[in-house]
Amino acid sequence: MRCHPLPATIPPVTGMTDPLLMVTDLRVAYGSDPTSAWAVDGVSFTLAAGERLGLVGESGCGKSTLGRAAMRLLSERAQVAGEVRFAGRDVFSLSPSDLRQFRGEAIALVFQDPMTRLDPLMTIGDHCLETLRAHQPTLSRAQAKAKALAILAAVRIPAERWSQYPHEFSGGMRQRVAIALALLLEPKLIVADEPTTSLDVTVAAEILQMLTELCRDRHLALLLISHDLALVGEYCDRVAVMYQGQIVEIGGAQQLLSQPQHAYTRSLLASALHIHNTDAGGKPRVAASDLESNAPTPLLRLDNLQQHYSIEKNLLTQLVRRQAGTPLKAVDGVSFTLYSGEIFGLVGESGCGKSTLSRAILQLVKPTAGSVEFEGCDLTQLAPSALRQKRRQLQMIFKIPSLASIRS
Ligand SMILES: Nc1ncnc2c1ncn2[C@@H]1O[C@H](COP(=O)(O)OP(=O)(O)OP(=O)(O)O)[C@@H](O)[C@H]1O
Ligand SMILES: [Mg+2]
Repeated sequence: MRCHPLPATIPPVTGMTDPLLMVTDLRVAYGSDPTSAWAVDGVSFTLAAGERLGLVGESGCGKSTLGRAAMRLLSERAQVAGEVRFAGRDVFSLSPSDLRQFRGEAIALVFQDPMTRLDPLMTIGDHCLETLRAHQPTLSRAQAKAKALAILAAVRIPAERWSQYPHEFSGGMRQRVAIALALLLEPKLIVADEPTTSLDVTVAAEILQMLTELCRDRHLALLLISHDLALVGEYCDRVAVMYQGQIVEIGGAQQLLSQPQHAYTRSLLASALHIHNTDAGGKPRVAASDLESNAPTPLLRLDNLQQHYSIEKNLLTQLVRRQAGTPLKAVDGVSFTLYSGEIFGLVGESGCGKSTLSRAILQLVKPTAGSVEFEGCDLTQLAPSALRQKRRQLQMIFKIPSLASIRS
């Protein structure tokens, strides 16, 4: 990241009355081409301690770039001009050791996709211990664990989940772990970049409620990045609207939602209030009875499909527990039939078992019980080579594209 000096017209800001975060005429361009457009184009705003600011705007308008620039997380290739001050300090001139401390202890980032932050080979407990030890090396293991368990409890992750791996958590739980990791070092500001975009509305609301409450209780400032104006308006004190790299409007959440001044804010608001009519312009629906009469052989038939996991780390306890019948029932006796050409919607809140069910259908996990008949052939009974052949006809599109190669 190359930093250019401030233009002479903008006086540097110093003094005890500085806001927590002060961004002044920030410009960011990717690549060395001097003609390349500014992804962030002259942005200025302040954020007070304990304040919650929502940053909204359409995809590509520069929200993440702005969030990353504030944490000095941009790549070396990015050209940066302007100033970011945090608690009176110039972020762009921090030394490498100050920068390490700054990230995590001063500002923490919560990403849209927690899997980019979580190591699939590390347990949740180890994630917490590693984060704490890196910044507070004098803490004993017992002290670190006690601290981590308290934070996990605050995000409603029970202590018995300590030794589990990220893939054993639902998307909503993973995001709660990511929030716990952000809170561990008691930062002054949390930058949350679309933290709930990949979650269903119920869980998204629950997580935002929890995140904003935790920030309020601990007097943490929050920069909440989202494309959803209504959502940000509900959880933030102030809202900044970004369009093509610039902040076109900023103000109190209530005021901005009730009296939007900029045409772009008004259009965002109109689309947020738009109630989607799923049938409008849609193709005529095919009745299930038609499908059944025209296609007597189902393409896919699930019968009492079960996927149970043990949450015990000890193999012996796992066996005993399994016998005692106390596994975690991720999928518990699902049966349905799907016909050729049919579009079948599967909905449910985070953690209810949708992804596990999809993986069990594709045999990416071995179902505990039940059958998955595809074109009349039970996939659960196939030898690995025959299953590989069949799998060519069954394809999965993953929620997180970057993880597709890992999972399949
Ligand atoms: N690492 C990068 N290298 C090159 N260009 C980038 C990079 N990251 C972002 N950009 C470009 O910068 C512009 C702003 O992108 P940014 O990711 O900040 O948008 P955003 O508002 O966060 O969008 P979204 O809502 O989709 O996350 C886009 O034109 C994007 O293509
Ligand atoms: Mg983004």
